[in-house]
Amino acid sequence: MKLARSKNGSLDPVQGATGLSDPTHGARHVAIIMDGNGRWAKRRHLPRALGHKKGVEAVRNIVRVGGEMGLEAMTLYAFSSENWNRPQEEVSDLMGLLRQYIQSDIEEFVENGVRLKVIGNYKALEPDIVAMIDNAIARTAANSRMTLAVALNYGAQDEMLRAVQHIACSVAAGDVTPEAINIDHISGALDTSDLPPLDLLIRTSGELRLSNFLLWQAAYSELYFTDTLWPDFDQSELEKALQSFGHRERRFGGR
Ligand code: FPP
Repeated sequence: MKLARSKNGSLDPVQGATGLSDPTHGARHVAIIMDGNGRWAKRRHLPRALGHKKGVEAVRNIVRVGGEMGLEAMTLYAFSSENWNRPQEEVSDLMGLLRQYIQSDIEEFVENGVRLKVIGNYKALEPDIVAMIDNAIARTAANSRMTLAVALNYGAQDEMLRAVQHIACSVAAGDVTPEAINIDHISGALDTSDLPPLDLLIRTSGELRLSNFLLWQAAYSELYFTDTLWPDFDQSELEKALQSFGHRERRFGGR
């Protein structure tokens, strides 16, 4: 029998586990490490910036498809806390694409019931981007069809560090004793606290690493690696990943 974590945290049998009626195959939350924009461009003798531009088109498409399939949440690794180490021109290209993406797609989020969320220390981005993000978050806050969580200036170790600091403050304030700290306190202090448990983590482009992405949340998620480069990742690729997820037997440490 296939099991999935329900909204209240219990382990329940997956409805539509045959995959005939449920395109998500029971997955509620899918996260993607979108890798391979540079190689996509290089293979075509194009500048890297064009690879990232195609990458944004793939984002746009996959967000639409994920919403149509009925996913509750999608988390996309758009800019890691380590990506600042890229050449300044590339960082600036990525920030420009982010601006354009929010500006051009906000109306579609509003219309399609997509709630925008950002994980990571995005307040450290340029002030106009922070304002744009805050505005988009506010405008879509009541949407409930799907949450799109974009990871910006995100690193899992940084996220956990911030969670520890938050909990340490609670201890210092006398709100909780060190012995009483439990798993839920930690999950609740992470940026993803309001998202469903992570079911499936996808990485494109053939790299077999998690690269500091959702390290806590991936404890029991299924992993899917594909050689497909991110700009080529389309609906059929997502369907393949979800089909693979549908065949996994999830035991969450049990038998
Ligand atoms: C990896 O490609 C991709 C990224 C640096 C992050 C993904 C960014 C996008 C899809 C575009 C911006 C996204 C939004 C939401 C506006 P790479 O450059 O590491 O590729 P390579 O490994 O082939 O060089």
